Amino acid sequence: MQMNSSGPLVDQFQRRISYLRLSVTDRCDLRCAYCMPERQVFLPRAEVLSLDEMHDLALGFIARGITKIRLTGGEPLVRRDMIDLVRALGRRLGQDTGQGALEELTLTTNGTRLAEFADDLAAAGVKRVNISLDTRDRATFATLARRDALPQVLEGIAAAQAAGLKVKINVVALKGVNEAELPELIAWAHDQQFAITLIEVMPLGEVEEDRFDHYLPLSLVRERLESRWTLTPSEYRSGGPARYFTVAETGGRLGLITPLTNNFCDGCNRIRVSATGQLFACLGGTEQVDLRAALRSPAPDAALSEALDLAMRIKPLRHHFVIDRPGAAPALARHMSMTGG
Ligand code: 5AD
Ligand code: SF4
Repeated sequence: MQMNSSGPLVDQFQRRISYLRLSVTDRCDLRCAYCMPERQVFLPRAEVLSLDEMHDLALGFIARGITKIRLTGGEPLVRRDMIDLVRALGRRLGQDTGQGALEELTLTTNGTRLAEFADDLAAAGVKRVNISLDTRDRATFATLARRDALPQVLEGIAAAQAAGLKVKINVVALKGVNEAELPELIAWAHDQQFAITLIEVMPLGEVEEDRFDHYLPLSLVRERLESRWTLTPSEYRSGGPARYFTVAETGGRLGLITPLTNNFCDGCNRIRVSATGQLFACLGGTEQVDLRAALRSPAPDAALSEALDLAMRIKPLRHHFVIDRPGAAPALARHMSMTGG
């Protein structure tokens, strides 16, 4: 296959890659039990790209037809001056590079610092944010996230709403943890006019507990919700792995992300870059390309573009996550906080 080093990014399975998830830090102020151990070892700061390098990197992606950028972490808002990157990228929104323009700049956050940053984000051109919230019960939150931060997060959510940001709530569904609370969480989100998406826990990185103990298949959750509500499959697509339903009784939209019970990799449109500039071709694979080396080479533009072509050649068809027995090792040693959630 002839690769075009200046054209749009298309992988070997003819999937057009238009969405970049860029992790600005692997650090986080929470320690969600399914995500990382209490004593998570974070990257030395010297390994992490500077915000200028991240900006250059993002421009290289935009020049190759990336139209949507999501800043992730860890927790993106714990990185000092991170808002400067948001502002710089925000200025690129709508500017055509010849390959198309950056159409959307967004972020995924745990909400702890949103009260401080929501207005700045909105002013920089961010229109929507994904906020991770697995429970609205303070004690459950404190146990799960190992930090008593629920009030702060709820304040952050209110601030996002007040700043005019569209809010989507992401919930990792966990057996025996937030299992019983899921209908109430959905009803609350819909009542606030928030979209909400449930996610199956994925076997990424060692944590202190066995993920098998809390793995809750969403096929089961869906059945239970259907005994209470009318869920109608929706044609709505966000370009991602979620499948959507409208809940007749609440009038809201419910997304389900089911990497374990139902694989949707065939429509994958995304690529992930870690805070150290490692491109991960798949959340569930080890295929990676060193973009930091490309950025720091004598001809960074050309080197970056070549690196992206390589990424397109090695992006795998799908991940192979399973959680089918206790005590199994994670599918990958890498935590979600490394690759960007
Ligand atoms: N499985 C599923 N979701 C995870 N997240 C973090 N680790 C995992 C995991 N192992 C989620 C967070 C957040 C998003 C960024 O990723 O809860 O919603
Ligand atoms: Fe932090 Fe998100 Fe991981 Fe929780 S899930 S520890 S908020 S990165």
